[in-house]
Amino acid sequence: MRTDRISKDASKFRKPPNMDDYRSLYRDFSWDAAKSLLSLFPDGSYNIAREALDRHALGKNAEKIAICWLGIEGERRTITYRDLKHQADRFAGALQSLKMDIGDRVFLLLDRIPELYSAFFGALEAGCVVCPLFSAFGPDPIATRLELGEGALLVTTEDQYTSKIEKIRDRLPELKHILLVGENGPTNVKNTYDYHTQLQKQPELFETMPMLADDPALLHFTSGTTGKPKGALHAHHAVLAHTATGKYALDLHEDDIFWCTADPGWVTGISYGIIAPLSNGVTMIVDQADFEIERWYEIIQKEKVTVWYTSPTALRMMMKAGAAAARACDLSSLRLIFSVGEPLNPEAVVWGLEAFGLPIHDTWWQTETGAIMISNYASQEIRPGSMGLPFPGVNVRLIRRSGEKLEFIDKIGEEGEIAIQAGWPSMFRTYINSAEKYRGCFQNGWYFTGDLAKRDADGYFWFVGRSDDVIKSSGHLIGPFEVESAMMEHPAVAEAAVIGKPDEMAGQIVKAFLSLRKGFDASPVLKEEIYAFGRKRLGAVAPREIDFMDSLPKTRSGKIMRRLLKARELGLPEGDTSTLEASR
Ligand code: PRX
Repeated sequence: MRTDRISKDASKFRKPPNMDDYRSLYRDFSWDAAKSLLSLFPDGSYNIAREALDRHALGKNAEKIAICWLGIEGERRTITYRDLKHQADRFAGALQSLKMDIGDRVFLLLDRIPELYSAFFGALEAGCVVCPLFSAFGPDPIATRLELGEGALLVTTEDQYTSKIEKIRDRLPELKHILLVGENGPTNVKNTYDYHTQLQKQPELFETMPMLADDPALLHFTSGTTGKPKGALHAHHAVLAHTATGKYALDLHEDDIFWCTADPGWVTGISYGIIAPLSNGVTMIVDQADFEIERWYEIIQKEKVTVWYTSPTALRMMMKAGAAAARACDLSSLRLIFSVGEPLNPEAVVWGLEAFGLPIHDTWWQTETGAIMISNYASQEIRPGSMGLPFPGVNVRLIRRSGEKLEFIDKIGEEGEIAIQAGWPSMFRTYINSAEKYRGCFQNGWYFTGDLAKRDADGYFWFVGRSDDVIKSSGHLIGPFEVESAMMEHPAVAEAAVIGKPDEMAGQIVKAFLSLRKGFDASPVLKEEIYAFGRKRLGAVAPREIDFMDSLPKTRSGKIMRRLLKARELGLPEGDTSTLEASR
């Protein structure tokens, strides 16, 4: 643990923070009282769309810009809360005309285009469950998720359709309808319609469905060490946590220009790239283009971004490019910078001061927690390298599990698994395809996160590592099993083991160890062919490095020892794999 600290001087705040006294808010907070941040239906019913969209679109914020959309080609479009609501209402109408029911799953496979946001809210308005997919996935991960999630309707673009969906559609009997966003207009393909034509047929108004707090709303796929991806299901109640964390952790004020750089194909891009900012009534930036340092600085400068939520990978890349590039632009609009998704190097926190005149605030949470659980707050001292303090209303402890026994770790600096007392509003409600795995995450009313951490004397949490084999690459969680399964479908591959190899920029990269079937030679040509095969099947999560081996190391029961491969890769003693995850 580092000892340097960045204290906050209240006189320098551009605005009084929404939470100026962390300790007293933590002590007095209750989720029930926090409901005053929402505008629930008169009978207490919920809908995420009501909180994040309707109450603004139908109230004083109707003409306020909800989304400032920046296109790849330099286009700039502003979408008011009212515009967004009209489009969402039409999408909800289209779902009804296609006989989609409450609880049906609507999948979105879209780049960051305006239609994504209308479809997201329209589906929620109609009581459907929304499942976003990362548009850089290849056809294999897409098919797996649509199949497991029993997607009934998919919204995608013509390009994604022809390059990925057409080939897998036969595998998806549950998929009744596809709406295509594109230039070509109506199609002749059965049950496939043009998005805009369908929407134009609908009335401009739709009454958002009142839902119970526990009714499902969002489905986010995530990965574990073994088996297929897990579909973490979240309820409408989650909006309470999104709104409260937006207000007290990200410190959103109504006049903020907020930019969350995460893609909505991942949980951050939904919870904080859509719901939390809009529920707090701010204007948010959506950039269609991928990460590019100069473009990003220009966006902050031109759009006068005030609160920025980004990733350690992006910050490390900016750090590498040097603080001068940041200082060459006028980034003085910024008042707070946050990061999430992977360990944030203490150097990056301090570098923020040099480049932006602001420290980086680390935040910690997971797909399963649905919202920020631990964070560095606007008013609190920052300890570089620490994830911060638990969010009010969230009871976080370090616990060691041995069988039935739970050992609470209270000793300063001792390692334990991060566990959260069950019951916060954005807690996932099940893994749709694995209720047993879901139950396995809980014990005696505590949710076990799989992350190891330490705590200091003032309650700040310090990340140590994962207790399993999942890979974190550029903040994206990747399950080794899914990658191994795809690699093994190549005719030359007999066995596959996939690990996260430490990488200075991306945190980890996906590395595959492969043994070959008889009759195949470990040639550079074959390696190239397997790389290409991986990219075609998996897209952005394909292995970036491949090593051929005669055979892969296995336990006596025949299980491939990924950890041993990782120890060898890191040059650690093979007998001592205990520090493997901690070393990433
Ligand atoms: O291991 C932790 C890491 O990301 C995991 C959750 O990944 P995912 O479900 O994809 O959600 C990512 C965005 C919320 C965690 O179990 N992680 C997340 N934030 C941090 C982190 N590791 C270290 N420091 C963080 N701030």
